[in-house]
Amino acid sequence: MRVAQRCRSGMAPGRAVHSHHTNHSPALTHAAAQECAGTGSHASLLPRCTIPAKKHMRTITINGVPQKIDLPDDAPLLWAVRDHIGLTGTKFGCGMALCGACTMHMDGQPIRSCVTPISAVAGKKITTIEGLSADKIGQALQAAWEEFGVPQCGYCQAGQLMSATALLHANPHPSEEDIDGAMSGNICRCGTYTRIRAAIQHVARSNVAAKPVAQPAGKRSAK
Ligand code: FES
Ligand code: FES
Repeated sequence: MRVAQRCRSGMAPGRAVHSHHTNHSPALTHAAAQECAGTGSHASLLPRCTIPAKKHMRTITINGVPQKIDLPDDAPLLWAVRDHIGLTGTKFGCGMALCGACTMHMDGQPIRSCVTPISAVAGKKITTIEGLSADKIGQALQAAWEEFGVPQCGYCQAGQLMSATALLHANPHPSEEDIDGAMSGNICRCGTYTRIRAAIQHVARSNVAAKPVAQPAGKRSAK
């Protein structure tokens, strides 16, 4: 798989450096290239960059938890979340905003975390697949995914669920065309699209988006 490489020195080797996509994150930054160089089977293919990358300590909020991250401004959010925070439910597919495998939410909106620099998420609320069960629609969709046997290999499904959740928040009763349009950026090489659509329609019909969140007993108003 070809991976876009970026380096603040302007280096662009123009060839694939990673053929695997689970242990390393996408879009190598200057710092990542330096970190990787000299280790692993791909070391000889990586360019050597001599300009030191400037890191910057910042706090980003992931699934409601503030996390301190010391990475360069242009480090992709996906890399920070997977390799530095250790939340590996979000997957790396293309690294070029083309497949949707890396979808997360930023303030409730779906984003491609493989091309979102961490400098862009300061002060924003990031939600990953690990935090989706705190969302009533996300929870209902995960149950429907199970009920309808949606996943096949499962690789794309975290991104599919994040996009589906954002869709039902924005449009609780989407038409078939609305669903296809909202989900068109999420590619499934196993072709589970029909089951994905059925599961989304099932949750939409259950009206879960319109139901009030249950309050703990002690907080209910007395009648
Ligand atoms: S990995 Fe981000 S869109 Fe494919
Ligand atoms: S379930 Fe295999 S890629 Fe979607």
